[in-house]
Amino acid sequence: MGHGPGLDTNETKENVIVINRRSFFGALLGIGTAGMGALLAVPVLRYVLYPLYTKAGLGEWSVVGPVDEFSDLAKPIRKTIDFAQRDGWREVVSSQSVYVTKAEDNQLKVISAICPHLGCSASWQNAQNEFVCPCHGGRFAADGAHVSGPPPRGLDALPHKVENGKLMVHFKYFRSNVPNQEVLG
Ligand code: FES
Repeated sequence: MGHGPGLDTNETKENVIVINRRSFFGALLGIGTAGMGALLAVPVLRYVLYPLYTKAGLGEWSVVGPVDEFSDLAKPIRKTIDFAQRDGWREVVSSQSVYVTKAEDNQLKVISAICPHLGCSASWQNAQNEFVCPCHGGRFAADGAHVSGPPPRGLDALPHKVENGKLMVHFKYFRSNVPNQEVLG
């Protein structure tokens, strides 16, 4: 009768300690699980978000050819280049035609063969000494400058460089039918 409250208090204390221990280990387990979850989530998130952080665009530089090949350039030379294009998780290799020509200052210039009017392929015509687009008759000079027809600008110049004796180009797509170059990718 008289020991009841004392025993109750001790039991209560033990219970509190046991509960506290349980809470402590429970919390520890919870933190560990959350930590592991966070660690595992990083690669998963990186995988899921990868395309968002990878600009859908093109690989950097493509080989046009040995630079010696263009040392005595009398007229534009057509070349097919390959470049890597990333679309989300996929990387596809595409080909495009470019022309190696000379700029006004006699330096090498690489231009896209894509007509800036509506995207047909312009080609060099020896007989006319001009680039001609077959779709709507756009004409361009040997350095790509617009001569006549509907295209609102000249053939697009592409960044190029010479590395280890090779002429390299960074292919880009540009918006059609606008007067100034606007890079699309
Ligand atoms: S697409 Fe070339 S002139 Fe129209």
